[in-house]
Amino acid sequence: MTRANPQWRLAARPAGAVTAATWAWREEPVADPADGEFLVENEYLSLDPAMRGWLGEARSYIAPVAVGDVMRAVGAGRVIESRHAQFPVGAHVTGLFGVQRFAISNGRGVQAIDPKLAPLPVWLGALGMPGLTAWFGLTDVGKMKAGDTVVVSGAAGAVGSIAGQVAALSGCRAIGIAGGPAKCAWLRELGYAAAIDYKQPGLNLKHALRDAAPDGIDLYFDNVGGETLDAALAKLARGARVVLCGAISQYNATGAWRGPANYFSLLVNRASMTGFVVLDYAARYAEGVQALAAWYATGQLKTRETVIDGLAQFPRAFDALFAGENVGKLVLRIQ
Ligand SMILES: NC(=O)c1ccc[n+]([C@@H]2O[C@H](COP(=O)([O-])OP(=O)(O)OC[C@H]3O[C@@H](n4cnc5c(N)ncnc54)[C@H](OP(=O)(O)O)[C@@H]3O)[C@@H](O)[C@H]2O)c1
Repeated sequence: MTRANPQWRLAARPAGAVTAATWAWREEPVADPADGEFLVENEYLSLDPAMRGWLGEARSYIAPVAVGDVMRAVGAGRVIESRHAQFPVGAHVTGLFGVQRFAISNGRGVQAIDPKLAPLPVWLGALGMPGLTAWFGLTDVGKMKAGDTVVVSGAAGAVGSIAGQVAALSGCRAIGIAGGPAKCAWLRELGYAAAIDYKQPGLNLKHALRDAAPDGIDLYFDNVGGETLDAALAKLARGARVVLCGAISQYNATGAWRGPANYFSLLVNRASMTGFVVLDYAARYAEGVQALAAWYATGQLKTRETVIDGLAQFPRAFDALFAGENVGKLVLRIQ
């Protein structure tokens, strides 16, 4: 039986924010899996700010998506045909399956997941790449220790909502920065000791950080970059660690990115600033999933997903990330 495979392809590289001209909708026939391959039916797709970076030609940690190719995305779904011993029909999996309903995979980079342990969207969020980013970013890169004052920007998003909880559950005082009173109220429910609404009119972020962290910031987990990074740099404690996880405020910039003016604070405070890419922890994912899943199973790690329905809605879902419409993990439900 020939199935139609609806999908979104990259039509043109955007300058600045993506537009309708960035994407092209196609329906292609689904190929049969060859020996050593399987066919997966995506049920959910993960929307990740990193996808904006994959649209540009600049050198990065991963090759850009080629114009004309199916847009790259992490999907979660079920194996429906298989000629691969490790991934039988019926297995649930996550992997880089692309913005499409069906995908052929040879299993490289694919994780088997247990939907009885957590629903599929959670495997794209708290127990997936974003959760692991929070986990390894704090514990390994940020050398988090009990008693630290930990500030997280983008705190109500997929990575940030887990980062604050991991910090609080590890005996740290977590302070979140997020846009809007509803997101900040949710952060307090999650165990953030304080939440700063950076969109509040007239807010001076440096002053708000000074009030929330009077002894300074021991660990700053940065998802946002730009002015937010600068404000946090101005409030570091001695020996602070700054973890560069992302810089979403700059991803749509058409000119030069805003870099940190307050970098000299690193010298004054004998601090360090380290960038990392979660893909480099692939060999240790099981360790991170185990720690997060244990907290999830006892209800200590809370998750929230913002679900947008329909593959046709992919362009709108992509924009939602940059408009701050998501609380927790943003996913697209395909069927
Ligand atoms: N290094 C790695 O390996 C790695 C892995 C995964 C993710 N990341 C990075 O981690 C960050 C968070 O990713 P995520 O998946 O958890 O996304 P997310 O936080 O769930 O979604 C994006 C959020 O960013 C905020 N935002 C959007 N535009 C902004 C702006 N101009 N200024 C400040 N905040 C803005 C919005 O929240 P507000 O309403 O609060 O503005 C929005 O909800 C991103 O920078 C991403 O690139 C890095």
